[in-house]
Amino acid sequence: MATVQQLSTKHVLGIKYLTAEDIHLIFDTAQTFKEVLNRPVKKVPSLRDVTIANLFFENSTRTRISFELAEKRLSADVVNFSASSSSVKKGETLLDTVNNILSMKVDMVVMRHPAPGAHHFLSQHIDANIINAGDGTHEHPTQALLDAFSMQEAIGDLTGKKVAIFGDILHSRVALSNIFCLQRLGAKVRVCGPPTLIPKYINQLGVEVSYSVLDTLRWCDVANILRIQLERQDIKYIPSLREYSKYFGINKDLLDQLDKRIVVMHPGPINRGVEITSDVADSEHSIILQQVENGVAVRMAVLYLLAATR
Ligand code: CP
Repeated sequence: MATVQQLSTKHVLGIKYLTAEDIHLIFDTAQTFKEVLNRPVKKVPSLRDVTIANLFFENSTRTRISFELAEKRLSADVVNFSASSSSVKKGETLLDTVNNILSMKVDMVVMRHPAPGAHHFLSQHIDANIINAGDGTHEHPTQALLDAFSMQEAIGDLTGKKVAIFGDILHSRVALSNIFCLQRLGAKVRVCGPPTLIPKYINQLGVEVSYSVLDTLRWCDVANILRIQLERQDIKYIPSLREYSKYFGINKDLLDQLDKRIVVMHPGPINRGVEITSDVADSEHSIILQQVENGVAVRMAVLYLLAATR
């Protein structure tokens, strides 16, 4: 990779700030890094002398490990910060925390934060490249990028393909970022879930809405199944998880009623037996672990391309 093509932005705050060209550039670069990751020597020197801080103010398994691995595979220096064991607990503000970390000569910040817009706020006050690893119920751009990259790998060009997103759309940053990303790539998007978990503004996003799981499974090429985000629900949106599972859970009996094979995805963490049964999550339809594998290559691509904007 001698000359680096550039992204149109120095931050990845959300998919809504990326162009279709940015997304295709990230995918092309990720494809190259995926090949690197399948070699015996998985490390490249691309980000030697670049220091990256991973700031996680919310829990994470996949995103956090995936970013750290991506950074180390690119030979970056990495520091990890967890809010639960930091001076945030003593009342330090987000800006003070980040400025203190940046004064130690950090070049890039990967951050997960519960407040929607926290990354946008930071981008107006600091010089480092910022990557949004999830901001509350707003966006999770690298999840949407790895989802779309994995879909493309499974079914080819997404132009005109039908993608259904099932579940708790109201509280899901994955849903919003997926909608923006899939529309940029020319796919048709439908959301399906209980009416209480579909946001009122959904029609403004140009997606179809359905309350029928079987009808939506018959319609789609790809089913992206989301978890019920109980930790973000201050009131009861569904009578019980058992009832949710009965009416909106995806199980093998439903897939057996289709006259075609569809691709099943889930961003994780999975609540087995609630939104998806094990015989679907672990079936030949599922590309859930390929999504996780592709996450490292996609995040390497994002980090590499952003570093080139410095
Ligand atoms: N998909 C996802 O964001 O998972 P984590 O919360 O474990 O990072």
